[in-house]
Formats: sequence, structure tokens, C-alpha cells
Amino acid sequence: AAIEKGNYRHFMQKEIFEQPTVVAQTLQSYIRPLEQAVALPQIDFDISAVNRVTIVACGTSYYAGMVAKYWFEQFARVPVDIDFASEFRYREPVLEKGGLALFISQSGETADTLAALRHCKAEGQTIAAVVNVPTSSMAREADLLLPTHAGPEIGVASTKAFTCQLAVLAALAAHFAVRKGRLNSAEEAEIVRHLLEAPACLNAALDHDEEIANMAHLIAPARDVLYLGRGSDFPLALEGALKLKEISYIHAEGYAAGEMKHGPIALIDEAVPVIVLAPSGPLFEKTVSNMQEVRARGGQIVLISDAAGLEEAGEGCIATIEMPKVHPLIAPLVYAVPVQLLAYHTACVKGTDVDQPRNLAKSVTVE
Ligand code: G6P
Repeated sequence: AAIEKGNYRHFMQKEIFEQPTVVAQTLQSYIRPLEQAVALPQIDFDISAVNRVTIVACGTSYYAGMVAKYWFEQFARVPVDIDFASEFRYREPVLEKGGLALFISQSGETADTLAALRHCKAEGQTIAAVVNVPTSSMAREADLLLPTHAGPEIGVASTKAFTCQLAVLAALAAHFAVRKGRLNSAEEAEIVRHLLEAPACLNAALDHDEEIANMAHLIAPARDVLYLGRGSDFPLALEGALKLKEISYIHAEGYAAGEMKHGPIALIDEAVPVIVLAPSGPLFEKTVSNMQEVRARGGQIVLISDAAGLEEAGEGCIATIEMPKVHPLIAPLVYAVPVQLLAYHTACVKGTDVDQPRNLAKSVTVE
């Protein structure tokens, strides 16, 4: 049957709002709620023997991979390399025996990612693929297929595929951590509980839709927008900037908050909105101090944080968006929603073609 927009104005909007459902659907295949355990669909190799993970992807899928690097290293203590597929193919990477090569792709057909997969296979790596299209080339060629259950994604700018990728990668990181002896069963149960909270937290984030639609009027006139984040929210800053440029054609950059003073701070003035992604937690104070540096130069800050974070640092911002308080493992999923909505509504204010942005393709099947 043809996929319809229903009551939504755009496919992208519909797909943003589907996230609580499709993330829940995806998590179902990776969690055994009764045992409070993470579990992979089918696995016939020894995860505890994996000594390195090499992640390869493009676009939004690459940013999901960047988040996963933080998780794999933090929770499972497995070293991770990550590359854009187009770079990986030609940089002559060193692939040692015992490595797992992990490919992330909505379509499963992106030419550079597929070529990288075949290269790793020829080099004897175990191949895992997080893929949304189950009939795709990558799905067929992987040793370990880790499907996302986002359903067909029509909007060119990826949204629900991204959060479903994060859900799979979070479960995979937890599974690695268990197998590597880094999480005992009580800690695993706690992680499972947090993962299962993700759909409700996504819903809470979506409740800010109208507020963000109003905020888009502040962003739409800008020529440049900066996104800042730290830790696993740094890739979200990159994803926020990517979404905005893809569909609203506003120049945007994502930066690691601590790196800002090594360059982009030179761009800050009253005309540059700065979107700060900062859940309260161990990195919060550091990000806030970077935010003060922006403010001291007249930068117009939109702070996205939870109640505690906004209470502490919300004053003086041009706008704030309150996220639920979440475990660090699910923060990137939840914080994806406001950056998607901000890009979406800004594009609507500008009147661009949200679902079919100029010069972009849903799936890039040529090099
Ligand atoms: C294109 C799309 C992006 C997508 C990227 C990677 O650039 O416009 O939305 O993130 O390809 O696609 P994949 O299917 O491999 O995830």
C-alpha cells in the first residue's frame, strides 16, 4: 500500500512524530523485559572476543555511529574507530584479526558504505550491519544483521531511522558491556529500565512541538547557526546542524562545546543563534562555561536541557526547551527530537521543500 502523510503536512513531520512508536518497536527486538536483559536477535560469534570495533557510515547514520563510539568505549571499554565511508575506503585502514566492522545505514544501499562493507569482509572482519531496509544489499551481506524497525522513511532528511539506530546501538553497547564483564545483572537491569523509558521520554520531547514552532521564527532570519554539545551530545550538535542546513538551507555548524574557543567563537555576534545541547550531569558545568563565553560576545543562546539545567543556566537565553531528565544512555535519542523539530519548523517558516530538499537524494547509490 502507498504510504500516506495522513494528517501531517510533510512526511518528515509524520516521521518525527512516529519516533516513540518505532523506537519502542525496535527495542522490542533487543530487550527481554521479563528477564530485564538485553539480547541480540541472532548471534553466532563470541562478542567477548571482539578487540576492536570499526564503525563506518555516511550522513546522519555516521552521527549515530559517533554516539555509539562514546557508548562502546564508556560502557564496554572496547576501542572504536569511526570513519565516513568515503574516507574509510581510501585511507588504507589497519584491520586486525578479531575486529568487528559495524555498518550503519537506513537504506542499506549507500554506495560508499556498501563498498566499505565488502572491503572489510574481504579483509576477514566480522560484519555487523544496522539497517532499516531488510531486503537491502547490506542486510544480505552482513554476518550479523541488526535491523531497525523504523518502517519506510520517505523524507530525505533522516529522522526516525536515526533514533532507531541509536536504540539498536545502545542495546548493542549494553550487550557488549555485559559480555565483557563490565555490567553485572543488576546494572544491566537498570540499563534496560532506562532504555524502556525512551519512548515515553520521546513523547515528552514531542510535547514541545508548538513552542519550537514559535521559536523557529527566531532562527529563520539567521544566516549562520551554531550548535554546541559535549560527550555523546556532541554528535547531536553535528546532527542538528546537518538537519538545519539540509532542509532550511541556513548555514549551520556543530561543534564540540570545548573546542569552540579554538575557532568558531570568532563568528559569534548578536546575529548568530547558538543552540546548546546540555543535559544536566557531569559535563553540564563545562558546557555552561562555554555558553557564558558565547553570551559575553553577544551570542543569542537557545538552551536545551532538563529542568535542573534550565534552572541553573536558563537565564539570559533567548529561548529554552525543557527535556525530561534522562539517563546518559538515552539522552541522545531524546535530544534528537528538539533539533529535528527546530530544523523542520525553520524550514516551514522559510517555505522550502521539506521532504525533497534541493540537491539531496534519499539514498546515494553512486560514489
Ligand atoms: C543521504 C540522505 C541522508 C542519509 C545518508 C546516508 O545523504 O539524504 O539522510 O543520512 O544518505 O544514508 P544511509 O541510507 O546509508 O543511512
